Amino acid sequence: TMPINCEPLKELIRTVPDFPKPGILFYDITTLLKDKNGFAQLIDAFAQYYIGKEVDLVLGIEARGFIFGPALAYRLNAGFVPVRKPKKLPAPVARVNYDLEYGTDALEIHLDAIKPGQRVIVVDDLLATGGTMQATVQLVRQLGGEIAGLGFAIELDFLKGRSKLQEYDVFSLLHYD
Ligand code: PRP
Repeated sequence: TMPINCEPLKELIRTVPDFPKPGILFYDITTLLKDKNGFAQLIDAFAQYYIGKEVDLVLGIEARGFIFGPALAYRLNAGFVPVRKPKKLPAPVARVNYDLEYGTDALEIHLDAIKPGQRVIVVDDLLATGGTMQATVQLVRQLGGEIAGLGFAIELDFLKGRSKLQEYDVFSLLHYD
């Protein structure tokens, strides 16, 4: 089968200047998600890439990784696991702290979310500096998961986040420079 050409999806992504801060150009995927053909193509393109890679679990990073992670998990016949901001998950967790431009943030995962050796992909809407995904990778490794891939709807190439994730298979549907 032919690989899906995702470039036309760019027309469905809204850019919002100066959000959430002056100087930031925000790529808003809500305009893509509400388009039935656009949303289907987004999931199909991910599924096409990951089908046959024996994925046990799809991990989604709060918040926008929760939107399409479960749809992809369903297509891959895999389970879905949320990676959440602190103090949201009810059972015992592993936590990782990571640096932001100003200050730090943290992410958590349930300790029993991954069985050692399970094959995991992690998905998020956007790869910017890569700090969020790098932190999530640490959580997966702490729990003994095997990382089968890291998937993004959008990669901001100029921020070079990919360089933090060199050991892994990083797959992005859309690229911006
Ligand atoms: C955005 C985006 C990624 C992260 C990418 O989330 O959805 O999760 O930033 O940035 P990085 O590659 O530089 O780490 P945001 O911080 O806006 O959180 P939210 O999804 O909860 O709004």
